[in-house]
Amino acid sequence: MEPYSEKVMDHFSNPRNVGEIQDASGVGTVGNAKCGDIMRIYLDVDDNQVIRDVKFKTFGCGAAIATSSMATEMIKGKTIEEALKLTNKAVMEALDGLPPVKVHCSLLAEEAVHAAIWDYAQKHHLAIEGLRPPKADIHEEETGCPV
Ligand code: FES
Repeated sequence: MEPYSEKVMDHFSNPRNVGEIQDASGVGTVGNAKCGDIMRIYLDVDDNQVIRDVKFKTFGCGAAIATSSMATEMIKGKTIEEALKLTNKAVMEALDGLPPVKVHCSLLAEEAVHAAIWDYAQKHHLAIEGLRPPKADIHEEETGCPV
């Protein structure tokens, strides 16, 4: 059996929302020191707290790219409040699952979305219920990666 679903392969081979947003409303970067993968998410949020656009850049494995792609698709057009509820489990389900060793890749996507929302909230002096600061992780110093 193939370890990856067709959806994972599709989002890996043809990722949606790749790129960056100039003057983004919020940017979140997270990494996993163990595998060294890094994910960055850019949000363009309108005055009604609706995510008008979202882009990502991922230096990582195929599953990290597929989960970033799916996560961005799932929060595009949603409100900040809705986006905050996005879980790695929901992203994995939308991709028809991931092999157990790749679950942490989807966690990176959830954390990157939260980090971008955190940055948005900080920049706009907003208190958003349920929003926590991004994990101090994310071992940027250990990965030595400049992003
Ligand atoms: Fe670490 Fe995929 S192997 S994000």
